[in-house]
Amino acid sequence: MSQIIQQLEAKRAAARLGGGQKRIDTQHSKGKLSARERIELLFDEGSFEEWDMFVEHGCEDFGMGDQRVPGDGVVTGYGTINGRPMFVFSQDFTVFGGSLSAAHAKKILKVMEKAVQVGGPVIGLNDSGGARIQEGVASLAGYADVFLQNALASGVVPQISMVMGPCAGGAVYSPAMTDFIFMVKDTSYMFVTGPDVVKTVTHETVTQEQLGGAVTHSAKSGVSDAAFENDVEALLQLRRFMDFLPLSNKEKPPVIACNDPADREDFSLDTLVPDNANKPYDMKELITKVVDEGDFFEVADLFARNIITGFARMEGQTVGIVANQPMVLAGCLDIDSSRKAARFVRFCDCFNIPIVTFVDVPGFLPGTAQEYGGIIKHGAKLLFAYAEATVPKVTVITRKAYGGAYDVMSSKHIRGDVNFAWPTAEIAVMGAKGAVEIIFRQDIGDPKKIAERTKEYEDRFANPFRAANLGFIDDVIMPHATRGRICRSLQMLKNKDQKNPWKKHDNIPL
Ligand code: HXC
Repeated sequence: MSQIIQQLEAKRAAARLGGGQKRIDTQHSKGKLSARERIELLFDEGSFEEWDMFVEHGCEDFGMGDQRVPGDGVVTGYGTINGRPMFVFSQDFTVFGGSLSAAHAKKILKVMEKAVQVGGPVIGLNDSGGARIQEGVASLAGYADVFLQNALASGVVPQISMVMGPCAGGAVYSPAMTDFIFMVKDTSYMFVTGPDVVKTVTHETVTQEQLGGAVTHSAKSGVSDAAFENDVEALLQLRRFMDFLPLSNKEKPPVIACNDPADREDFSLDTLVPDNANKPYDMKELITKVVDEGDFFEVADLFARNIITGFARMEGQTVGIVANQPMVLAGCLDIDSSRKAARFVRFCDCFNIPIVTFVDVPGFLPGTAQEYGGIIKHGAKLLFAYAEATVPKVTVITRKAYGGAYDVMSSKHIRGDVNFAWPTAEIAVMGAKGAVEIIFRQDIGDPKKIAERTKEYEDRFANPFRAANLGFIDDVIMPHATRGRICRSLQMLKNKDQKNPWKKHDNIPL
């Protein structure tokens, strides 16, 4: 008996070594942790239960029959993060470059399917050379099976991709179908075709990092939702991130103990909005002053910075925050910010996370680049996402809420549950200057008259009371009381139950 037990231990030890110590050392020399070290950091100590440690590939071609490594290049199973169960697959670059074989794909599918059955998030730690070249179409089939499962699991359990090494070709489409993609600077990259193919086809010279590195995708393409400095930071931040999410669509958002009083007032907010309507201020200051303990996990912080998205808590309960940022493009909505926020709103709605929206938006960004790029369809994504969302929605207008952008930003008209405005709010079709130049065009040559008309327009519309008269704003609130008013609203909305008409699925303007 003890001999058999020793044999098991020896087999396990061999499997844990993956592609061998030399390859693990190479991995370390690139500044990367091994697949197992990553899991150890991600999960609570000793909580990881591994599955399929002894799975091997079944390929006999190209001498593969003599090269079998237990586990076949991916470590799979489940564990806990701060006591909550999550599923994981962590690709092992030391085994055939983490490439995906039929067996490797089956391992991933096993955790994904179980995650959907029991209701647990799936975290993918991607580090792979792509399809196992020796297996040909069997490997492509494995990818397609994973893609299908990504689609089926979408909206059922949160799916998170942490790209920590290569991820190229069609392989990018599995992370792309998950809810959030995070990347690690300098060691990870994602592209459909690499620099050599780009050079041949378009004659552009570009490095891997420039083409598909973490900063490129976090700041330029918006494919990635964050760029972390290294594996350790990435995994520790991922732990923090997962604490905000429910385990599945059947759960309410998690609530953690909170020492921040719900009725905490912050008088510095009374002077946050500058007297000059054209002067920017930092909306992040408002967010961090209002949410529990100033703890805000910003998502896609480098992309479309004219809108802010991220998770925070109010009275310990997770909320999704969406906020215009007057510091960037005056907070205008454009193609990128509409796409970014729409996807975020939809995630929150899938997973029962209330949405708190802070509004200071002068409108949609004008210009041919925006029109030719399809701002009409992209802006509609955000409108659609807010309109169909049935989670609790609380909105605070701090300053400008002009034109169509007023409607879009979680207004009462698209089922905002509680809509507040600060006394500094200006809710109108457009700013006073633009409005006067249109409706009093005949007076344009007369600066005195124009000034009078502008003042008249401002007095009438550059305030929240017109909207409040009509019931479009539930109350005009003191800025310093914002936290308390939002907390009460969310408490009141706790058991909100709203359903959309039956449909197979909607047809959001993709
Ligand atoms: C089998 C692979 C592999 C692959 C790497 N390896 N990629 N084995 N299939 N796709 C093996 C290498 O042979 C090597 O084995 C080990 O992994 C490490 O690779 P290196 O090249 O030494 O590492 P590095 O220099 O860091 O380069 C990493 C790499 C490179 C850039 C990822 O390996 C590479 O270009 N691989 C091929 C990528 C590729 O073309 N994949 C197919 C893409 S198409 P030894 O034994 O020497 O350690 C695709 C389609 C998906 O993925 C379609 C889905 C629909």
